[in-house]
Amino acid sequence: MDTTMDGMVIPAHVALILDGNGRWAKKRGLPRSFGHKEGCVTVEKTVEIAARMGIRYLTVYGFSTENWKRSEEEVSGLMQLFRYYMVRLLKTAKENNVRVLMIGERSRFAPDIIEGIGRLVEETKENTGLTFTIAVNYGGRDEITRAVQKIARDCLEQKLSPEQITEETVASYLDTAGIPDPDLLIRTSGELRLSNYLLWQLAYTEIYVTDCLWPDFNREELEKAIIAYNRRERRFGGAKA
Ligand code: IPE
Ligand code: IPE
Ligand code: MG
Repeated sequence: MDTTMDGMVIPAHVALILDGNGRWAKKRGLPRSFGHKEGCVTVEKTVEIAARMGIRYLTVYGFSTENWKRSEEEVSGLMQLFRYYMVRLLKTAKENNVRVLMIGERSRFAPDIIEGIGRLVEETKENTGLTFTIAVNYGGRDEITRAVQKIARDCLEQKLSPEQITEETVASYLDTAGIPDPDLLIRTSGELRLSNYLLWQLAYTEIYVTDCLWPDFNREELEKAIIAYNRRERRFGGAKA
C-alpha cells in the first residue's frame, strides 16, 4: 500500500521527456548505448509504477524526428533496442492490463518494427488499465503538419468545410486524438525546453524538471513530481477565483 500518495491528486495524464541516457553512460565511462539499454529498463519499471499509482495515461518520448541526426551507430543501436524492447513490453503490458498506443510517423521504420508496433497495439487494445503511449519518430511540428495535410485533403473532398474547423477538429486530426491533454510534464536531466514534444497538447500542462538522469528515475522521483504538482495552483488562463 502506497501511503506517500495518500490525499494527493494523482494526475490523470503524465507526459515524460526521458532525457539523460547518454550522460548517465558517460558518467560511468560507458558507451551511450549502455545508457539507452538501462533507460529501457527504467521505462518498463515506470509503466508498472504508474499503473499501480492509478495514473490513467502515461506518454513517453522515445525517439524524436530530430534524433535521426545522431550517428548511424547510435540510431541503429536504438532500432535494435526497440526490436528487443517491444517483445518485453508486450509481456509487461499484458501482465499489468496496460493498453499500448504509438504516436509519431511509423513509415520511416523498418518493416519488422512497424509490424511489431502494430502487434503491440492490437494485442493490448482491450486492456482497461493504464494507457501507455510511446512517441517514436515523433515531432510536434511534424504531427501538426500531417494533421493540416489531412484536414486540407478532407476539405478538398468536401468532407469538411473551413468554417467548420474548430480546436476540437484540429485535436481530432492529431495522433493523440481521444487522449486527454497531459496534466503534468516531467523532463529528466535538467534541460528547460520542450524539444518538439506535444506542442499542441501541452498548452496548459504543469511542467516539472528534475536533474535526475533518466536511467536513475524511480518511484521516489515520480512521487516528488506528483507532490510538486499538488502544490501548484492550476490555471487555464482564467483569473484566480
Ligand atoms: C534520451 O537520452 C534518449 C533519447 C533521446 C533517445 P539522450 O540520448 O538524449 O541522453 P543525453 O541527453 O545525451 O544525456
Ligand atoms: C528529446 O531529447 C527527445 C527524446 C527524449 C526522445 P533530446 O536529447 O533529443 O533533446 P535535445 O536535443 O536535448 O533538445
Ligand atoms: Mg538528450
